[in-house]
Amino acid sequence: MRIVILPTKQEVSAFAAEAIAAVINKKSNAVLGLATGGTPLSTYEGLINKHQQGTLSFNKVRTFNLDEYVGLLPTHPQSYRQFMNKQLFNHIDINIQNTHIPECLNSDYEGCSSNYETLISEHGGIDIQLLGLGSNGHIGFNEPTSSLSSKTRIKTLTKKTIENNSRFFDATEFQPSLAITMGIGTILKSKKIILIATGENKKDAVADMIEGSVAAFSPASALQLHSDVVVVLDKLAASKLKLYDYYIQTEQSRKKLN
Ligand code: GLP
Repeated sequence: MRIVILPTKQEVSAFAAEAIAAVINKKSNAVLGLATGGTPLSTYEGLINKHQQGTLSFNKVRTFNLDEYVGLLPTHPQSYRQFMNKQLFNHIDINIQNTHIPECLNSDYEGCSSNYETLISEHGGIDIQLLGLGSNGHIGFNEPTSSLSSKTRIKTLTKKTIENNSRFFDATEFQPSLAITMGIGTILKSKKIILIATGENKKDAVADMIEGSVAAFSPASALQLHSDVVVVLDKLAASKLKLYDYYIQTEQSRKKLN
């Protein structure tokens, strides 16, 4: 696991945008795994800027989002489909038909879930998966105790996740407690993974993910099993890491080698 600690949230976002752009510039028909939440917003801004400056094209790119609420139509303002359209897809030259969200508009949840897995495989798998981190250690909507080999399926959200995400909903608005999410096993099949986390409220989950045991109680700790993961943190999110200085030193050595 490569650990990159940067002074600010802005630098974390810029690093992630560069990493994603590098994959697309190497492979114009790259398959991206995308995330929602507050953390990736500036990364998406960075990608939009690159597109507007003419240095990045998404016209052959395909995307698969990690998750979606169950019970919200794709037209609902709080759906992750609307989030992605608004924050990224409407501002770049991507073919919207090539953007996939694990929507399930009927009650055949098993069918929707297995179709999503099949679709990802049919397109050759995910070249780079962008992840945020829940303050309870979740990735996608894989809540603590999710099987580390889980596939796309329906998950019940924890009280903490519902509270954390309530900021996106009006007080009187229906907030779903179920979601469809790629599994941890699905995420681990991605060729590359970049996880970004910023802010003090992520420091416990970050420490468990990087320096704790691999455990279903800390879903992100499963990333320790992947051979090409970069975790990009600001100083606050990294502040509980025991080997903080070592990670800084390792990145300095990497720069000298390059
Ligand atoms: C949601 C998403 C996750 C995201 C998490 C953290 O629960 N399903 O993919 O990583 O929120 O969100 P934030 O970046 O807003 O802290």
